[in-house]
Amino acid sequence: MKLETACIHAGYTPQNGEPRVVPIVQSTTFKYESTKAVAQLFDLEVNGFFYSRLGNPTVDAVEQKLAALEGGVGALCTSSGQAANLFAILNVAKCNDHVISTAGIYGGTVNLFSVTLKRMGIDVTFVDQNASNAELEKAFRPNTRAVFGETLTNPGMEVLDIERIANLAHAHGVPFIVDNTFATPILCRPFEYGCDIVTHSTTKYLDGHAVQLGGAIIDSGKFDWEASDKYPELTTPDASYHGLIYTKAFGKAAYIAKARAQLLRDIGCCQTPQGAFYLNLGLETLPLRMERHCRNAEVIADFLAAHPKVERVNYPSLPGSRDRALACKYLPKGCSGVMSLELKGGRTAGVQFIDSLKLISLQVHVADLRTCVLHPASSTHRQLSDEQLAAAGISPGLIRLSVGLEHSDDLISDLEQALGKL
Ligand SMILES: Cc1ncc(COP(=O)(O)O)c(C=O)c1O
Repeated sequence: MKLETACIHAGYTPQNGEPRVVPIVQSTTFKYESTKAVAQLFDLEVNGFFYSRLGNPTVDAVEQKLAALEGGVGALCTSSGQAANLFAILNVAKCNDHVISTAGIYGGTVNLFSVTLKRMGIDVTFVDQNASNAELEKAFRPNTRAVFGETLTNPGMEVLDIERIANLAHAHGVPFIVDNTFATPILCRPFEYGCDIVTHSTTKYLDGHAVQLGGAIIDSGKFDWEASDKYPELTTPDASYHGLIYTKAFGKAAYIAKARAQLLRDIGCCQTPQGAFYLNLGLETLPLRMERHCRNAEVIADFLAAHPKVERVNYPSLPGSRDRALACKYLPKGCSGVMSLELKGGRTAGVQFIDSLKLISLQVHVADLRTCVLHPASSTHRQLSDEQLAAAGISPGLIRLSVGLEHSDDLISDLEQALGKL
């Protein structure tokens, strides 16, 4: 199936007389004919549902759709994007392990990595994704277990050189995890460039209507856990599952099977059937929406870049943008609806501009069908130190603009009147 078709049909094929739309199976529990049948489920010997924390028919249909869209072998939905990134790391790293992450990622993920993972004993080194291979090599340690980055960084809008970093990670025998939230599988499919595991905050474009928090992890099935001696949790018996070996029992699907069996079981953070239903509605129109987000953003980026009161616009496909060549390679269909900008007059001008907008709203959100703005330094990235802000490419006056699906003429009128007040 092409992506447009998979967005509508993948994951759910109704049989004669069954509901046409993925139904919401609200039940937390399922009924069985025998204790043997339940035991087989608990031993992961047969597929099936036994408790909605671990799996549910509605959530399962959406997981299959997400796996198809990214071209992976399996997917796991979580309650939020934060939970997805946490699980993606915890599934391969434990206390005394080390992870390398690019520095320009979403502020919430920086906190998760530098505070919460650190408390768990997992050390994260942040690197500049544009550093040379020789520089990046220096970050690897014998206990490094994963490399992490974002396809398009939030809010700096830097484009990740997925192929280059994947090659580096693989040379050190570790997987490359990419948060593909802003690009979505419509604009970029990181597995095609060597990435091993993709994560999403489905709260953003995949839902697209700002109605449901969610996250997802998708596995390419390509990383060879057995060839590496670094992942005994995947390749040796799991005492909490009667000695089951994930790579032996699930082959290429081992990573998601382990995340479900251990992390969803022990920590929870599952998506709800109702939440998966909303997410599925969003996914059905994703290709149409992404096309419009990109075209609108290109018009707005051109307008802002030419405006005398604007100092700088970060939108990778703009002529003269540092990452334009990377954008052509990884994001040929467009660079999403998100951009960031700096006004002449810095922070003061930025605050005045945001407060003057009428149609475009100030929201702690991004990648939604309604155009919205945010001042990262005083909100999403507020907990970051000045050094962390600088490493993430966030200046005090930086404004994040998330271009929605309204008519671009109306958006330009609003931007023009707000810039006119400066
Ligand atoms: C790139 C990226 N990853 C992860 C997250 C966290 O997702 P959530 O808010 O769904 O927990 C966000 C939130 O803005 C994000 O932008």
